[in-house]
Amino acid sequence: MLESILMIKDPSARITYRRNWGDYYLIRITSPEIAQKALPGQFIMARVSDRSVPLLRRPFSIHSREGDSLEIFFQSSGIGTTLLAGKKEGEDLDILGPLGNGFDIKNGIGKKRATAVGGGRGIAPIYFLAQELLAMGSDVTVFYGGKTARDLPLKERFEAKNLRLMCSTEDGSLGFRGFVTGLFESKMDQLNPEIVFACGPDLMMEEIAGITKKNGIPAQLSLESIMGCGFGACWGCVKKIRMSGAEEWTKICQEGPVFPADRIIWE
Ligand SMILES: Cc1cc2nc3c(=O)[nH]c(=O)nc-3n(C[C@H](O)[C@H](O)[C@H](O)COP(=O)(O)OP(=O)(O)OC[C@H]3O[C@@H](n4cnc5c(N)ncnc54)[C@H](O)[C@@H]3O)c2cc1C
Ligand code: FES
Repeated sequence: MLESILMIKDPSARITYRRNWGDYYLIRITSPEIAQKALPGQFIMARVSDRSVPLLRRPFSIHSREGDSLEIFFQSSGIGTTLLAGKKEGEDLDILGPLGNGFDIKNGIGKKRATAVGGGRGIAPIYFLAQELLAMGSDVTVFYGGKTARDLPLKERFEAKNLRLMCSTEDGSLGFRGFVTGLFESKMDQLNPEIVFACGPDLMMEEIAGITKKNGIPAQLSLESIMGCGFGACWGCVKKIRMSGAEEWTKICQEGPVFPADRIIWE
């Protein structure tokens, strides 16, 4: 709730850098107020077109932050992301942010032996998180999974950081052959993490919730939902979450998108 009140509208965030690897895109935007307030796991809502289609803004995790700039990393998958992918350096983007409650790394959590798992485009917030954890002195392992080697374009970005990176692909073209959850589970004893963070498709997240529960390790999972507004006004994003003990239809944009794994009801 507090984060939503602090939300900033920046109608002219300037795109200063853009690159792509196939249908994955990285865009750097100058937006001083949003960048300075951003926390790992928070997101922005971007207006991708000046026309009425698509009418609704689209949510994107904050991938990194440096000074007055922030980056988003996304996969073009539909009308909105295709329009965003077509934006050029020097163009302005209308964004709202920072939104939602990010990963909780306060009160010593960020200093623990941490493991972060990103599946496909779900790797986007993991980079910002890993950078903050490293700055806090945490021992960080990142698992990065995708269908094929082309789905791991950020591998070199992570390798340039002082962390352990473990990659998986479903077709075996890079790293472990299989799902990232399989690789993660096979390394549990060796890594002995004290805290696990994850972002990715629902099936991956449900698996991570199961593995961490079995091993008695707390996990924080960043959920996706279709979002109309991004700040609690439309009820378009609700999912069932255990809040104060009881199951409740909960606004993912406002109370999340990050939740403790043991509070999420998988349907
Ligand atoms: C908090 C949050 C953070 C996200 N961060 C990232 C990110 O960092 N990188 C990234 O690539 N993607 C991210 N997404 C997903 C991204 O918002 C959707 O892929 C995007 O909105 C699809 O828009 P579109 O117009 O291209 O797709 P559409 O043409 O509208 O639909 C294509 C597909 O995307 C799904 N979709 C449509 N709208 C949304 C929506 N608002 N939220 C989720 N799924 C949607 C549809 O169900 C469909 O499967 C995030 C989603 C959320 C909720
Ligand atoms: S997206 Fe509108 S309430 Fe969550």
